[in-house]
Amino acid sequence: MVYSFLRPLFFALDPEHAHHLSINALKLLQTSQRRPTPAFSHQRLAQDLWGLRFPNPVGLAAGYDKNAVVPLVWSTLGFGFAELGTITAQAQPGNPKPRIFRLAQDRALINRLGFNNDGARAIAQRLPSLLSPQSSRPIPLGFNIGKSKITPLSDAVADYLESCKKLLPFTDYLVVNVSSPNTPALRKLQEAERLGRLLEALLASMRQFAETEHTSSKPLLVKIAPDLDTAAIEEIAQLALSVGVSGLIATNTTVERSGLRAGSPETGGLSGHPLATRARAVLRTAYRAVEGRLPIIGVGGIFSAEEAYERICAGASLVQIYTGLIYEGPFLAQRIVRGLVRIVEREGLPHLRDVVGRDV
Ligand SMILES: Cc1cc2nc3c(=O)[nH]c(=O)nc-3n(C[C@H](O)[C@H](O)[C@H](O)COP(=O)(O)O)c2cc1C
Repeated sequence: MVYSFLRPLFFALDPEHAHHLSINALKLLQTSQRRPTPAFSHQRLAQDLWGLRFPNPVGLAAGYDKNAVVPLVWSTLGFGFAELGTITAQAQPGNPKPRIFRLAQDRALINRLGFNNDGARAIAQRLPSLLSPQSSRPIPLGFNIGKSKITPLSDAVADYLESCKKLLPFTDYLVVNVSSPNTPALRKLQEAERLGRLLEALLASMRQFAETEHTSSKPLLVKIAPDLDTAAIEEIAQLALSVGVSGLIATNTTVERSGLRAGSPETGGLSGHPLATRARAVLRTAYRAVEGRLPIIGVGGIFSAEEAYERICAGASLVQIYTGLIYEGPFLAQRIVRGLVRIVEREGLPHLRDVVGRDV
């Protein structure tokens, strides 16, 4: 309600400027809190996955808090988990501005930010003063890592390993981003041979870390593009199962432009409403390919509890949102969670997890 008055003000600003303002507001909120707000939990929505407790299934998608500066506000806004980053080994400024565009008629965004971030080392140095110990976090926090732009594809493994080593002590789960359209050639890392090498190296490094810490290895997830064909999705799914990845995230932004009401000449990744159909289809294909043996996080064009529920029925154990926040406001996660509770009660479901993949 309040956001419907504020949105025109935000939309009068350049999208990246509006984003920085929102991050500054969230920083104020974070410093004003003596301790993180307890999670917005519901017994029919909460679930344990990968040894982590997810109080509800609605998460923040990667890209909003790229530098992990407000990791503790997301539970206050009702999220059940949050993914921070993408973070690269090298600090980098990203692409020239302007690089985020609103397509208001389509309830969509195009971005070509290009992994602007402070780099894994600087971010890891800041984290101890920001983050409470893992055991007392109200919601799981994942870190999403990508390849530095200056690193050639042939050295990608070492680049990802560096970010992994820096961030692993702080993360509850790690995401390999091989699907952003805004780092040249990054999506080639989705090819089975390259991806296999990358995942095996990361998993080995994560196992080594776990041994030295006398803990179990943390979950590793792969985030995939919506622009893959069925064969490529199936190949990644098989690879994920065979190397021992913990889950998939479907999907990142698309380079497709079909279905837009208003065309856009801008290059970059398209997110929001026009992505929903494709993201749902990729999720279904991936769910079928892993035969329900790996949890999948569904993301792309989720603006409502109905769409989140549909995504869960299409195979998602958890969902994430980004563009919906821009159009619907900061309390969208809470609204989706409340809506999911209503749907579960209406359908007489003992638990939301009972419908994961029901429609596949
Ligand atoms: C401005 C912007 C920046 C993004 N940055 C990242 C990123 O750094 N890493 C990543 O994995 N995904 C990134 N994404 C993709 C989102 O995490 C998500 O996969 C995608 O936007 C689809 O979800 P949505 O339709 O709810 O936005 C970004 C999306 C937007 C709109």
